[in-house]
Amino acid sequence: MVAAPVTHLTVEYQPAALAIAVPCPRLSWVPGREQSAYEIEVRAAGELVAHTGRVPSRECHLVEVPDLRLRSDTDYEWRVRVWDTDGAVSSWASARFGSALLSADDWTASWVLPKARPTDIERWTLLDWVTGRRPQQEASERLVPVQLLRQRFDLDAPVARARLYLTARGIYTAELNGRRVGDEVLAPGFDSYTSRLCVQCYDVTDLLGRGDNILGVALADGWWAGRIGLTGSSAQFGATTGAIWQLHIETQDGQRHRITSDGDVVSAEGPWPYADLFIGERFDARLYDPAWSTPGFDDTTWNPVETEPADPGVLVPFAGEPVRRVDELPALSVAPDPDGGWIADFGQVVAGRVRITLRAPGEGDTVTLEHTETLDADGRWFENIEGINKEQRDTYVAAGRPAETYEPSFTFHGFRYLRVRGIQAPPHLDDLRAVVLSSDLPQTGSLHLSDERLDRLHRNVVWSQRANFLSVPTDCPQRERAGWAGDIQVFAPAAANNALVAPFLTRWLDNLRADQDSEGRIPILSPRSTYDDQLADTAEGFGSIKACAGWSDAIALVPWVLYERYGDRRVLADTLDAALHWIDHQRGSAAELPERLRDTALTPEQHTRQALLYNAGEHFGDWLTPSTLEGRPLHEAIGIAPKLTAELIAPMFQAQTLTVTARSAAALGRTALAARLRDEAAHVRAAFAAEYVDAEGRLPVALQGPYVLALAFDMVPAAQRPLLVDHLVHLITERGERLDTGFLSVPYLLDVLWDAGHADLARRLLWQDTCPSWLYEVDRGATTIWEAWDAITPDGTVRAVSFNHYAFGCVDDVLYRRIAGIRATAPGYRSAVLEPDLTGPLDHADAEVWTPYGPLRVDWTVTSGVAAIHTEIPHGVDAVLVAAGRSVQLAPGTHYLHISLPAQEHGKK
Ligand code: BGC
Repeated sequence: MVAAPVTHLTVEYQPAALAIAVPCPRLSWVPGREQSAYEIEVRAAGELVAHTGRVPSRECHLVEVPDLRLRSDTDYEWRVRVWDTDGAVSSWASARFGSALLSADDWTASWVLPKARPTDIERWTLLDWVTGRRPQQEASERLVPVQLLRQRFDLDAPVARARLYLTARGIYTAELNGRRVGDEVLAPGFDSYTSRLCVQCYDVTDLLGRGDNILGVALADGWWAGRIGLTGSSAQFGATTGAIWQLHIETQDGQRHRITSDGDVVSAEGPWPYADLFIGERFDARLYDPAWSTPGFDDTTWNPVETEPADPGVLVPFAGEPVRRVDELPALSVAPDPDGGWIADFGQVVAGRVRITLRAPGEGDTVTLEHTETLDADGRWFENIEGINKEQRDTYVAAGRPAETYEPSFTFHGFRYLRVRGIQAPPHLDDLRAVVLSSDLPQTGSLHLSDERLDRLHRNVVWSQRANFLSVPTDCPQRERAGWAGDIQVFAPAAANNALVAPFLTRWLDNLRADQDSEGRIPILSPRSTYDDQLADTAEGFGSIKACAGWSDAIALVPWVLYERYGDRRVLADTLDAALHWIDHQRGSAAELPERLRDTALTPEQHTRQALLYNAGEHFGDWLTPSTLEGRPLHEAIGIAPKLTAELIAPMFQAQTLTVTARSAAALGRTALAARLRDEAAHVRAAFAAEYVDAEGRLPVALQGPYVLALAFDMVPAAQRPLLVDHLVHLITERGERLDTGFLSVPYLLDVLWDAGHADLARRLLWQDTCPSWLYEVDRGATTIWEAWDAITPDGTVRAVSFNHYAFGCVDDVLYRRIAGIRATAPGYRSAVLEPDLTGPLDHADAEVWTPYGPLRVDWTVTSGVAAIHTEIPHGVDAVLVAAGRSVQLAPGTHYLHISLPAQEHGKK
């Protein structure tokens, strides 16, 4: 008997990875039927290097092969076959992968550093930002040119296999013999460079030939030396750029060659007088010679480089998907700007840059491209991003050819609108393309809702996810582009529905761990520079925060999301110690009393309780709680939510982190540790309830957020829950059934209401369209999720805030789980519940998530009180459909069901 074929073979989540970054990779496949056993063989150059034999097991996802230890820079082939539950065996399915440079000893190259003027060290502070202090010189005077590096080498036979391992302090593009290497952009990406600098691997077999070869590398400031972060300070990792590479070549005559970056490399300035990730770049086409990376080019005037020994401990193989051009959008309209130039609208807020074609420009004509996310209320040009070094302006100097096309190489912008200046006639729509950049993650989920506004809300979330999953998970793709831990902590569950985020977030967690300090503090953002630390050391208030509730807890909460959605145990194992160290820090800080209690005489019981609670110090609290921002200028208002909520929220996250870490420990088989953490969590919760919850179930702060979190994190005894729910409902009603939750509580708002029997109120909040609400933004034409609910105020005023912050888009997870109705009930969707919201206002929804076992789908329509439900259940997922008060077990395969809804239950709009 032959079982159904095995498909979707992946190694570390990747099909056909060129350079797997770990020595013991995990293998996955999708069996065609329920699996009872598998067998795996792994070969290198035809030789069997690992063989499992027949292993009785259901596992087919992230399977470790006991004796598999990858060698560096090696190509592998693996194959798998499975037995189904009837004992039938499948045919073998096979796939290939390669390995990266896995050991520090693999590095023999040196850093090569162009002898060029280092980047100016600019140190800006938040005070400079608000007081309007700005750089005195133009970008062209302050910034340094992109450097070109060139290395010549000779091969005496045709090439059989070649891999280029390359990274830079800065960002680079590479060419071999005049042809572009790879399709990544902004390589090597952003990491905590002091500890980790990711090395890319490219298959360059087809780019090399017998005889003279030239490797060319163009090198710009990037995250290493450029102006980055909120302050726009430069050189936060270093002021000198450089590159390091090894080219591993096998020629067809069987010889191996290794070309390494070294003293024979020469450098010169290229056609970019400057290029900065935030400010933008200038490209002078008159200075561009496309032959610069070909053998015939004369480099006798180029300069020798300096070399520096490699720091192999810091060089780590890149894992996951790089940043690529993932989409292109046409311009929808072009209109003259009364202030000069032309304004193009791409119809969508994105992260990326514009490719423009100029028709018959004159030599030396200078065209500027400016970017913004929104126009003002009157449709005029308006820069919504303020701050230092946030220009987002590219400049092109034409060579004077009949048609010239330009797309920046070393920068990107957050924008929907473009203003072009320096051309006389309006650009044709066809001459403009918004090139969308993102980490190129496979899109693994889809969701469609019959309510056009809700559907748009979902698409807005997906766009914000794309724009902010750019090398690291960021807050916004324009003003800061920082790896804010709080933002991804609240957004990770939503993100995991839409895309395969495991390798991407695992790499970010590697950075977060690398940035943990010796006292256990997990930073509020990562990658973090030493300048970030200096700033915190000299600031006051929340500017002084290095670690805090809800942000630092990402170290425990984000890995747990990856475990829930992907069943990934390794990320739990890899982050456990860091989470425990963070818990140590919280525990140690608990001794400190909140300021308001410092001069108060405490009872002995209170003293004991207070000593358990991590509730002092500075925190962002329930950041951006809407009511705290009303009626005051932003700079006064922004600190109010932190002041009001920090003391309550910090111990709630302390308890939640203890609980989640206990679950992680249990999942890793660390039973005693799990029990200890659970115990500690119970003590923290009891202390919290005794300190902060009165007999009527009231918290000391009458805001929705603390109630939501107290319920979501189980902070009060069961008997008190209904009292807290009543207060929460009252607070929501008082606000006209509008949300008043900040960053940290908003992910739980609708779930808490739903679970407490207030599904109707939860739906009314979801469908609310006065400010603040999700649909208010949609009604105002949002194409992404805004940082501030009132980024466009009810009177139409457009505010200078980010129009692309995904944090409040966390509601997308509710759309998948509660509205369309797909949720995992065991790690990695081993079991799932399909529970469509058949009695809510929607007529139709369909959703699909890619589980480790294949696509899980639900698609439903309600007509005249009857729900037609179509489901697809992959083998390996234990699925239950819950509808009209009944639960039905669904076997793998396709199901069509018709369910009559009780009359009172279908209150369609
Ligand atoms: C960012 C946030 C971030 C916050 C910290 C802001 O400037 O844009 O999204 O989490 O600072 O409170």
